[in-house]
Parts: sequence; C-alpha cells; structure tokens
Amino acid sequence: MVKKGIILAGGMGTRMSPLTKAVNKQLLPVYDKPMIYYPLSILMLSKIRDILIIVNKGQLETYKKLLPNGKNLGIKISYLEQKKPNGLPEAFLIGEKFINNNKVALILGDNFFYGQSLTLTLKKLSNFKQGAKVLLHKVFNPSSYGVAKLDSKSQISLIKEKPKKFISNYAITGLYFFDKKVVEYSKKLKPSRRNEIEITDLLKKYLYKKKLKSEILGRGGAWLDTGSIENFNKTSNFVSTIQNQQNVKVACIEEIAYLNKWITKKNILSSIKFYGNCEYSNYLKKIILSKKN
Ligand code: G1P
Repeated sequence: MVKKGIILAGGMGTRMSPLTKAVNKQLLPVYDKPMIYYPLSILMLSKIRDILIIVNKGQLETYKKLLPNGKNLGIKISYLEQKKPNGLPEAFLIGEKFINNNKVALILGDNFFYGQSLTLTLKKLSNFKQGAKVLLHKVFNPSSYGVAKLDSKSQISLIKEKPKKFISNYAITGLYFFDKKVVEYSKKLKPSRRNEIEITDLLKKYLYKKKLKSEILGRGGAWLDTGSIENFNKTSNFVSTIQNQQNVKVACIEEIAYLNKWITKKNILSSIKFYGNCEYSNYLKKIILSKKN
C-alpha cells in the first residue's frame, strides 16, 4: 500500500483568468467546497494519511487558513512552495525529502473523480510492489491529455502527451502511483517543447522497463479536469446534481475521515465550530447524529 501522497496545487491558472488573478485556482469553489477538497478526498479514500500539498509561491498562508495541518482529519498535511511551474514531475523534486525513499501517489489539484467503484479502483491502484500505476478513462477529446494505447492484453504499449494524431481514447488521468524510483527518474527528465518536464516522459521510463500498469475508470465513473472555465462549471453542476438528488456530499473530507475511523465525533464537532453556521456544518451534524455510525 502507498502511504504518502502529494497534491500538486501550483500553476498559474492562466486559462481561468481573471478568476485566478487574486485567488489560487484550487481554492475556487466547485459547487459548495474549495476545489482542493476533491483531490484531497481521493487521497483519503486511497487510505493515504501523510499528505504534502505543493502550492504557488506566496500562497502558503492562505491554504493554511483552510487546511492547517490535517490533525482534525486524522491525517498529516504539510506544505511546500513551487517557485515557478516547471512541469508536473517537479513535484517529486520539491517533495524528495517528504517522499524519503517511499512509494508515493500524485494527484493534480484540479482533477475530479467520482464513481461507485472508485474506492475499489483506488485500492487496486495502490496495491503494487514495484513500478508505477496510472488511472485511465475514455474521453472523446484525447488530444487534450496524455494518452495511453493498450495492446490486446490490455497492457500499455504506447504513451503520448497530447497526440495530434489519434492513437487511443484512453486519457491518462491526473492520479499516479509510483515506487521509490520516481525521484531518481524525475531528476533525469529534460524539458519538452513547451519547456516543462512532462509526466508522460516520466511514465515512459517505467513503460520501457515494463513496469507501468494501469487501472481503468469505466463508464460508471466520472473524471473531469477542472482546469478550464467550461469544465470548471461542468464539475460544479455535476456535484450539485449528485448532491441534491442523493442528499449526500461528494468529497466531504470530515465524513471520509470519520468513516475511515481516523477521527471521532469530537473532531467533527470542532470542524463544525471551525466552519461556523453553514450548510456544510449542518451536513456534518447529520453525520454524527446518523444511527448508522
Ligand atoms: C497534464 C498532463 C497530462 C494529463 C493531464 C490530466 O496535462 O500533462 O498527461 O493527462 O494533466 O489532467 P496539463 O494539465 O498540463 O495540460
């Protein structure tokens, strides 16, 4: 099992300007919670309790107001700053000490995942001895993402970053699991044409050693990259539809911690105090009053 996870919440959010001029993208609301709650919930559902959040230079204090240290969620949250976005694998260079020769998961701060079998898929993703694992999802516009081609045995045979020519519909989503070699490999990466080190180049290092595996998030699951205005709004609408239909919250981090038995009712009460009188707090109250728990 993988015990450490990184949320990469850096980046300039240029595609979403002017929304992102004064507020960091991952702190913007996706329906009723800050965007960062969603990737954080995915790491917590993967049973990862030691979490590093990488933020833009100058954003640390703002993030700490929302998620100080994780104590009240039964997890440990630490922070590091990224001076300038130089590509996703930079997370492993910034986080070298945090990783400390362990396996590590990386999730992009603007990625949204949802689905009934997700917890099981996360369990499978996290269960490996060596190599790396990615989560694939079929999309209609693969040229916007990193893409993986699968062979007849459902093994990855080819990887390309934003291919102009069609190779496959399987997008490589922004959730990755790596063994401890990730830091060593990341150090060897050279900047691409867009002058960034690329996650797909890192994945290729594992692929060429036959050490890259994948799981598929099927039709019953949803993956949305919330990094553009259009997708950002689509995700908000999606969350609103699900929540209002089912009367449950997506990515309620306190609920996940409570169901994982990492925290007690006392912690939930202190979260209610922290959030104040709001709809989110009312939901938390319902959780601790529920007979099931
Ligand atoms: C990045 C990765 C790409 C991946 C995508 C997932 O793209 O480079 O391989 O499919 O995240 O969100 P970017 O957001 O940098 O365009």
